[in-house]
Amino acid sequence: MNFSLTEEQLMIRQAARDFAQNELLPGVIERDDAQKFPTEEVRKMGELGFLGMMVDPKYGGSGLDTISYVIVMEELSKVDASASVIVSVNNSLVCWGLEHFASEAQKEKYLIPLASGKSIGAFCLSEPEAGSDATSQKTTALDKGDHYIVNGTKNWITNGNSAETYLVIAQTDISKGHKGINALIMTKDMPGFEIGPKENKLGIRGSDTHSLIFNDVKVPKENRIGEDGFGFKFAMKTLAGGRIGIAAQALGIAAGAYELAKKYSKERKAFGTEIMNHQAIAFKLADMHTQIEAARQLVYKAAWDKDQGNDYDLSGAMAKLYASQVAMDTATEAVQIHGGNGFVKDYHVERHMRDAKITQIYEGTSEIQKIVISRSILKN
Ligand code: CAA
Ligand code: FAD
Repeated sequence: MNFSLTEEQLMIRQAARDFAQNELLPGVIERDDAQKFPTEEVRKMGELGFLGMMVDPKYGGSGLDTISYVIVMEELSKVDASASVIVSVNNSLVCWGLEHFASEAQKEKYLIPLASGKSIGAFCLSEPEAGSDATSQKTTALDKGDHYIVNGTKNWITNGNSAETYLVIAQTDISKGHKGINALIMTKDMPGFEIGPKENKLGIRGSDTHSLIFNDVKVPKENRIGEDGFGFKFAMKTLAGGRIGIAAQALGIAAGAYELAKKYSKERKAFGTEIMNHQAIAFKLADMHTQIEAARQLVYKAAWDKDQGNDYDLSGAMAKLYASQVAMDTATEAVQIHGGNGFVKDYHVERHMRDAKITQIYEGTSEIQKIVISRSILKN
């Protein structure tokens, strides 16, 4: 067993750490307040190769492993989880899905700009009546010979307005259940493609979350990913890797909150001594450190499984379930350690606490991760 990072992974970690401190930190409170999308920061992340990290360089990507990807996700999320969810969706849900299942022509046209950071993408599975119950798709893609006609509504779509390419899951043949679902590549310039209002959110407020409304959108059949009826499997296979990215995001939120709390505990005095000298505070830090380390092992193990070609449905779900709980617990305790200062924006930990919550909800709620985990352990 080898727990060391390679020279390359250490360099990537330093690059992501520097970027987070120098480029994300300065405006993070203002972006959160104003719900401002980090346009310039995303452009720079594209230049650094963070938007297509695992994609083969022949398609414009950085050709790195999943371990490098989770390292970057952790470092960005320590500072700005809004920026990191944009990175996560583009890398794991959009680029990965296209690289593994799209045709060569689709990769040339759509993957190259996405992986090289010239544009960003969105992954559109959730609907008003199909969230956890993802097979209950109401959006339809009716087969009209050489094209589909798409009608329906998607909601909660990350990068909803800022994306150019959308991977949309829709029902073609209801009689076939989930085997009648397709995944289509859509673009927002298609007539009938409407972007709904932006959600006003508790956390990750710098990312733009919108509903999408499709009114008789004509999508050429050449935009379907894979064989007819492959759409649900496409979504599930893609999400299995996406969950590792969100687990890394949760790990980063926890680690960021912990680092701030540790620093504060060495500076703040109460009852004539730094608060770290009160055992109640020191023990909180001990718990946080231990839980973060355990979360990191689960996240890295899931990433390693993916890199080794092992099955990662189980390890990814366990990493997300555990790391998201650690993010919530750690960020809440970090606020507590900051006392009243924890409750105001200048000290950052209240944002970490608000951002942590989403990691227990999107890409499959914690309850859904337990379904995935329990089915996996019980079938063997
Ligand atoms: N890989 C390949 N195939 C898979 C799979 C996987 N990981 N998981 C399921 N499947 C297949 C099954 O084998 C089955 O196919 P067969 O009938 O051919 O065997 C088919 O998919 C249906 O599977 P289930 O019978 O298990 O379906 P279910 O209705 O019981 O639901 C579920 C399973 C795991 C709960 C699924 O619905 C699910 O993951 N729900 C959560 C949805 C979700 O995560 N949404 C996230 C949206 S994206 C997002 O959130 C992005 C963001 O925020 C940034
Ligand atoms: P529901 O499915 O209605 O669940 C409600 C509650 O019931 C939850 O606690 C859930 O765990 C529980 N529950 C449901 N079924 C079961 C069960 N069988 N057993 C036990 N408990 C159960 N979706 C996308 O497709 N693309 C995106 O880019 C995207 N980005 C998002 C960004 C944000 C900020 C948010 C809030 C959501 C985003 N989502 C996205 C949607 C997200 O994936 C869903 O919100 C999530 O899957 C839960 O679905 P739901 O909201 O419909 O909740």
